[in-house]
Amino acid sequence: MKPLFKEEKTAKSRGKFWKIFLLSFLLLIFISEAVLALLLRYLENAAIAEDVLTVPLYIMPFVALLFTVGLLHLAKARQQKVQIIIDSMNKVAGGDYSVRIYEKAKTREFEIMFSNFNKMVEELSSVKTLREDFIREFSHEFKTPLSSVHGFAEILAEGGLSEEDRKKFIKIIVDETDRLRKLADNTLILSKLENQQLAGDTEIIKLDGQLNESIIMLAPEWEKKSLTLSSDLQPLTVRGNRPLLMQVWVNLISNAIKFTPEGGEITVGLKVRGGRAEVTVTDNGAGIPESELAHIFDKFYRAAGAEKAEGNGLGLAICKRILDLHGGEISVKSVLGEGSTFSVMLDIVE
Ligand SMILES: Nc1ncnc2c1ncn2[C@@H]1O[C@H](COP(=O)(O)OP(=O)(O)O)[C@@H](O)[C@H]1O
Ligand SMILES: [Mg+2]
Repeated sequence: MKPLFKEEKTAKSRGKFWKIFLLSFLLLIFISEAVLALLLRYLENAAIAEDVLTVPLYIMPFVALLFTVGLLHLAKARQQKVQIIIDSMNKVAGGDYSVRIYEKAKTREFEIMFSNFNKMVEELSSVKTLREDFIREFSHEFKTPLSSVHGFAEILAEGGLSEEDRKKFIKIIVDETDRLRKLADNTLILSKLENQQLAGDTEIIKLDGQLNESIIMLAPEWEKKSLTLSSDLQPLTVRGNRPLLMQVWVNLISNAIKFTPEGGEITVGLKVRGGRAEVTVTDNGAGIPESELAHIFDKFYRAAGAEKAEGNGLGLAICKRILDLHGGEISVKSVLGEGSTFSVMLDIVE
């Protein structure tokens, strides 16, 4: 949409225009005549015929007039451009993010202003879309377990069930409410992380020690699935927020456990690569289709087949945000059906 400038010519603005016009005109005549007089006096001394010299005296008022009109025209063009920005700003303030300024800017500063304005509105509209997507996806994730709980609670309330069915349905309700609780927890964690710009309280952390801790903490889970978990950890230290980094390792190893079938293998590695510390979590599990690799760090995104495992698609988004706050990076390599390797890079602190 192209915002058009409409100038409202009120009697007041017209009066102001003529006042400025007359003042500038008189001022210019005064200055130019004074300059000419000086010039004449100098040239008289140089003994040039007087009638040749007086010609510019008659032309000067017209030159001054043209000059004034030109100056005022320039000022008006500037005023119009400013008005375009004001009008567009007002539209954005009213919630219309489709506004863009296509007006041709004749000066560099207006060109920058227009382009920055357009960038700003684009950014604002993408934030708005993100927020709407988030609410839509959150309510979708929220509704599914809720309607399941509602359905089974109703069946239970009707009564007349065998003891076995009763236990089964109660277990479903407990599991689904647990899913809701985790969804709420993770959403809160992520929105808190998104609102902070720094990692918070940081300290020097022995990364090999922390990775070992997370492996031990998750032992009940990988032992339950008879997975082999091996580690190869070089002693390295980084600076970071201890509980946040712990969350990254727990999320990555939990995913590896979750998406690897019984009897599979998981390896956790820590070494120096390119002068930085690289943590790798490798599994020989389900793998991720290549076409979906780019999305798995998005909020609520779960690759095809993931629905069989519990989760809400927020774990990797949380990892990514935590690493952003630490100036770190996370990436993935995966082959469908063969396994995945998640790699995290952090700066080493001696
Ligand atoms: N180790 C892995 N092996 C296979 N797929 C994985 C692995 N880790 C993550 N994924 C894929 O990435 C998606 C997003 O992961 P995540 O954000 O942790 O969500 P969640 O674990 O709740 O499904 C998963 O749903 C799954 O499709
Ligand atoms: Mg996960």
